[in-house]
Amino acid sequence: MYEHILKPIFFRFDPEKVHNFMVYFGELAGRYSIGRWKISFLYNYRSNDKRKVVDGIEYRTPILLSAGFDYNARLMNILPSIGLGGEEIGSVTARPCAGNPTPRLTRLSKSQSILVNKGLRNDGVDVIIERIKKNRKFNDFILGISIARTNDDKSVSIEAGIEDYFYSFKRLNEENVGDYYTINISCPNSFGGEAFTNPDLLKRLVSKLKTIECKKPIYIKMPINIPWDQFAQLLEIIDKSGLNGVVIGNLNKDYNSLDCREEAPDSYKGGISGKPCFNLSTELIRKTKLMYGSRFTIIGCGGIMSVETAQEKFNAGADLIQLITGLIYQGPSLVKKICKGVTI
Ligand SMILES: Cc1cc2nc3c(=O)[nH]c(=O)nc-3n(C[C@H](O)[C@H](O)[C@H](O)COP(=O)(O)O)c2cc1C
Repeated sequence: MYEHILKPIFFRFDPEKVHNFMVYFGELAGRYSIGRWKISFLYNYRSNDKRKVVDGIEYRTPILLSAGFDYNARLMNILPSIGLGGEEIGSVTARPCAGNPTPRLTRLSKSQSILVNKGLRNDGVDVIIERIKKNRKFNDFILGISIARTNDDKSVSIEAGIEDYFYSFKRLNEENVGDYYTINISCPNSFGGEAFTNPDLLKRLVSKLKTIECKKPIYIKMPINIPWDQFAQLLEIIDKSGLNGVVIGNLNKDYNSLDCREEAPDSYKGGISGKPCFNLSTELIRKTKLMYGSRFTIIGCGGIMSVETAQEKFNAGADLIQLITGLIYQGPSLVKKICKGVTI
């Protein structure tokens, strides 16, 4: 139904408007058992054979929605009905962010990608904490919370940036909201850039966060366009800091990775998702696994559009996988197909 009816309609409209509609519909459906039942009847994966425990957390399935789709925590009650084991809410920031000027999302259909220039649009950590506390119905649907630095000029300096991450992390811990936390250091379209992909600055950020006693797993969301040397230095810091692992990785900034380069002229701004992320992220997962064995939990993300691409992520060393763009291009039934088709 999605591929032949809904997608051709959706793809005629502005992507952000379609996204807002989907969130509205999903939130509404998640509120009522009849809505959840109907979606579940169509899309859920009912078997228990893909259950997996990672860092002490049990996932119904090892497939999660990646950060950026449900950035305001509105879909946590409907997503379990499509076979997902969890989602990453956010990225949330210390203060609310309106995001970058529109267009914030552009479809690059020939390349199975989305150009994302969202600029961390979200309601801010305090509002999102209250929303989760008020609305969460299912504790076995895992909620990771992705934390980023507020996209405004107040948090541009390194000190202010660290305080900004610290505030969100502290509030989430105080309120005991979220099952794991991801520190997003690699958002390609925000005010202060990606300062914390600098190894020394990451060290400073992590030591500050470690002053809070956190019993939940903490992961770092990695960039995929930096040289391996720098990537390896970041891994070393993450290892020494005792954090649990990495999400590999974020959006791709190299428009030359597009199947159809003309879809994104140089004047465009933002990172690209989907298929053009696949090779880069999978290779980094493989190298990380080779270097660190089982030291890190690896959450594999980027360009999972089919059972085969999901399997490649697991084969490369991912413990869990995340996706967004595959869902947009293939529809919600992709999750069930992956659950049925992969060996984990
Ligand atoms: C619309 C959209 C918004 C995103 N926003 C965020 C975000 O707020 N924080 C984050 O860490 N990643 C964000 N991402 C990146 C995704 O989490 C993911 O790393 C990337 O899209 C690669 O996965 P995919 O190919 O399955 O989409 C966003 C991606 C998309 C498509």
